[in-house]
Amino acid sequence: MGDRNSTTYAAADIVNYYAQLNRLQPAEAALLEQLRDQLPTMRMLDVGVGGGRTTQHFAPLVEQYVGIDYSPEMVAACQKRFSQPDDSMRFRVADARDLSQFDDSSFDFILFSFNGIDYVSHEDRLKIFQEIKRVGKGGCYFFFSSHNLQALESGLTWKKQIGSNPLKTYENLVMLGLFWLFNRPMTRDTLAEAEHLIVRDESHNFRLDTYYIRAAQQLKQLSKDFSQVEIYPWQSTERVLDMDAAIMDRDLWVYYLCQLKTSGRAN
Ligand SMILES: C[S@@+](CC[C@H](N)C(=O)[O-])C[C@H]1O[C@@H](n2cnc3c(N)ncnc32)[C@H](O)[C@@H]1O
Repeated sequence: MGDRNSTTYAAADIVNYYAQLNRLQPAEAALLEQLRDQLPTMRMLDVGVGGGRTTQHFAPLVEQYVGIDYSPEMVAACQKRFSQPDDSMRFRVADARDLSQFDDSSFDFILFSFNGIDYVSHEDRLKIFQEIKRVGKGGCYFFFSSHNLQALESGLTWKKQIGSNPLKTYENLVMLGLFWLFNRPMTRDTLAEAEHLIVRDESHNFRLDTYYIRAAQQLKQLSKDFSQVEIYPWQSTERVLDMDAAIMDRDLWVYYLCQLKTSGRAN
């Protein structure tokens, strides 16, 4: 999956798309408010920074901001978009699977927004969690979003594509047909049985391989090294208290807020 994804994230049309985004998603705005008082003393790592959508909101509020991306083209777009007056704001090319350019216990807050973690294999995803664990201080906040397999499964029926607008209904049905075509030989049973799965979804016209995971499984992945895990559907400022809530069937991606466990670590 690596080559297709890194090629897509280096493409000029995709870089330009991310470089013009500027609004926080509702769940991110809720997080910013939650951490606002602590941000001035925090060193922040913004992983998969893309074209800098989140930079303008967080960089002015934290003590030090480092934005990284494995796409040199994305990093160049950030450098063009933001002047870096001093060391308090920096952009670097770095792959989340190998953060060796950063020391252990360097950051108080690590963000991996807009599902950037979903563009690597399952094994590489676990590697990323290990790198986050290494470069985060004990108690470091980690906030990231990931595609929601539960919502994908529940949305992939022809009945769900039908609405009051005939043109939209037609478009939705075409997209549903293309989804099954791009993901042959996947079946509804494959989806129902999987805890996590890599699919070609319609984002950027099926040019990405994307990891989807059920929330219960994501909590399991996090449980060894992270505590205080909270879930926010991306369109909501309210955290989910009941994993069977209707919104978990609807929001195609959800945010996870958690903190690195402190046991056995230097702060
Ligand atoms: C969906 S875009 C989001 C960009 C930006 N965070 C935003 O919210 O607008 C995902 C970003 O993650 C980056 N990315 C994907 N895998 C990565 C990895 N292993 N290490 C660093 N960046 C990665 C991509 O290059 C891309 O810029």
